[in-house]
Amino acid sequence: MEDHQKRKAEMEKQMKMLEHNMTLIKYKIAVMSGKGGVGKTTTAVNLAMGFKMMGYSTGILDADVTGPDVALMLGMEGRRIEQTGPFGMMPVMHHSGIRVMSLAFLLQTPDTPVIWRGPLKTTVIRQFLAEVYWDQLDFLIIDLPPGTADEPMSVGQLIPDLDGVVIVTTPQDVALLDVRKSIGMAGKMNVPVLGILENMSGLIFTCPDCGKVTEIDLFGKGGGEKVAGELGLPFLGRIPLDVKIPEDSDKGNPFVAEHPDSPAAKAFKEAVKMIVAKLEEEK
Ligand SMILES: Nc1ncnc2c1ncn2[C@@H]1O[C@H](COP(=O)(O)OP(=O)(O)O)[C@@H](O)[C@H]1O
Ligand SMILES: [Mg+2]
Repeated sequence: MEDHQKRKAEMEKQMKMLEHNMTLIKYKIAVMSGKGGVGKTTTAVNLAMGFKMMGYSTGILDADVTGPDVALMLGMEGRRIEQTGPFGMMPVMHHSGIRVMSLAFLLQTPDTPVIWRGPLKTTVIRQFLAEVYWDQLDFLIIDLPPGTADEPMSVGQLIPDLDGVVIVTTPQDVALLDVRKSIGMAGKMNVPVLGILENMSGLIFTCPDCGKVTEIDLFGKGGGEKVAGELGLPFLGRIPLDVKIPEDSDKGNPFVAEHPDSPAAKAFKEAVKMIVAKLEEEK
């Protein structure tokens, strides 16, 4: 067979596996934002943990190929693919039972820089969807890189029945401009916006001397809710800044599980409930 014919046949086989894999997953949700550092990966792991805590079987796909942080935030850096599955790889299991796949599990060292062009990124994401044995899942959360680059487009094309995107923003006005771009992207991908989550919204500060808890308005508040209102999109809530969030991810247990009664964890759990309600009402 000619080389390109062989490649075409392989690609068709892979797309069949991908389609089959996706039929086993009930809800597929991507987390996106206009820019980096707003808390997408934090949101992806805490939403996933929130679904898990409600008893749903859950997986996370790290589609941020050039900055694969999911493993780090789940305390799984240094882990490697351990088993092969029927189509290629088995996801790596977090101690909570969340199934995780990230390029980090395939890299030699965690700080290996990943400098790839678009087509290669698409190849990796396609492989992670087709050749990883996700098995039956209630939720697959896909952590996207910032912006409107190749990855969101690839995810949109490879998963035509993507159930929706969650858009993460910080409260400032500049961030809100990016929200509009993300919404435009979701539109191009033909995917519904499940809602907007405002992260780093106010600072919860516990006084080390007297233990008094104060909320400080650090970067402003309410911008995400305002833009959601203007655009007629659901507002999924405000997640305050909490120093325990980065601490917990260093320890490998997402904040919602480690500090379930804190205001930020309660806000994440509320967002999880709203997403479940919205999806269940539509199916
Ligand atoms: N609500 C929050 N409170 C405190 N730190 C946060 C909060 N949200 C995110 N962070 C921290 O901010 C940094 C960037 O978050 P991350 O989730 O990696 O953003 P992104 O994936 O959008 O680049 C991380 O160190 C994370 O622990
Ligand atoms: Mg990230």
